[in-house]
Amino acid sequence: METVLSGIRSTGNLHLGNYFGAVKNFIKMQHEYKCFFFIADYHSLTTHPHPADLHANVKQVLVEYLACGIDPEVATIYIQSDLPEIAELYLLLNMNAYVGELERATTFKEKVRKQPDNVNAGLLTYPVLMAADILIHRAVKVPVGKDQEQHLEMARTFGNRFNRLYNTELFPEPFAFNFGTNLVKIPGLDGTGKMGKSEGEGNAIFLADTPEVIRKKVMRAVTDGGPKQENQEKPEVIQNIFMLMEVVSSKETYDHFNDLYNTMKIRYGDLKKQLAEDMINFTEPLRKRITELSSDEDYIHKVAKHGAEKARESASKTISEARRVIGFRHF
Ligand code: TRP
Repeated sequence: METVLSGIRSTGNLHLGNYFGAVKNFIKMQHEYKCFFFIADYHSLTTHPHPADLHANVKQVLVEYLACGIDPEVATIYIQSDLPEIAELYLLLNMNAYVGELERATTFKEKVRKQPDNVNAGLLTYPVLMAADILIHRAVKVPVGKDQEQHLEMARTFGNRFNRLYNTELFPEPFAFNFGTNLVKIPGLDGTGKMGKSEGEGNAIFLADTPEVIRKKVMRAVTDGGPKQENQEKPEVIQNIFMLMEVVSSKETYDHFNDLYNTMKIRYGDLKKQLAEDMINFTEPLRKRITELSSDEDYIHKVAKHGAEKARESASKTISEARRVIGFRHF
């Protein structure tokens, strides 16, 4: 069975875009592949989070993924900083990662622009740590967005370089896992395209948002002056609202509002009200589960411990082999 590894940023509360774009696929994939899901908390140190925020963020992400249906008995879900093997492989890989190639990474250049006062070495070696995350389980499939493809290419480079240097086949090449036809792009509410948390307040509906917040955000969604003629093509901002309706509402509801649009009888206020209620209903079981899990410290502790144990079993095999081929021997 092929090994899949997905890295989850520890700063991101899940929104509907994450849910339909990735997490929903993970729930299925966990039964079809050997899946590792981990929360990248070491990576988040590159932006110097407050210690209390770090812990709360990791917990929130863990709880949300569990609430969505990642089953810790089926997949392996763990926290990056629970695996010292990752830090060790990172150290080893750093010895054959060149400063020049790291400086050329698009994400690094972007960070230099965004946080010029904190261009730390962790930022520069971010791709090395990501390569260690992947190579530690010898994963071959990695679900990532376009923005991470360059990092994945670097992971292949570092793995291949290690293999050549030490005349081994320890590391297979990891490639981006493409959801293909299952890839659903969820638009945001501000009319600018993709749902994302960095796009600005109100653009994304988070799974943990309360019904009041969802209503407020949806009612503020960008629309236009209404259809100018019957059966006209919908402008993007309206298409976006309908697309959201397509994923959370029933087919009848969607068709009903689609007909109203086509016959120019639509009232956007009604459309948004309906969309908000359907989003609330859709997210309701997830929200309930998030609240339940959040207060179950015992369970969370068990899941994290169990995940770390399973992940370390896989990681320690890789690290022993890496140490062996490098030439480390115990005296
Ligand atoms: N860099 C990824 C992101 O920003 C997160 C990540 C860290 C990751 N390590 C990974 C993703 C390993 C896949 C595999 O989204």
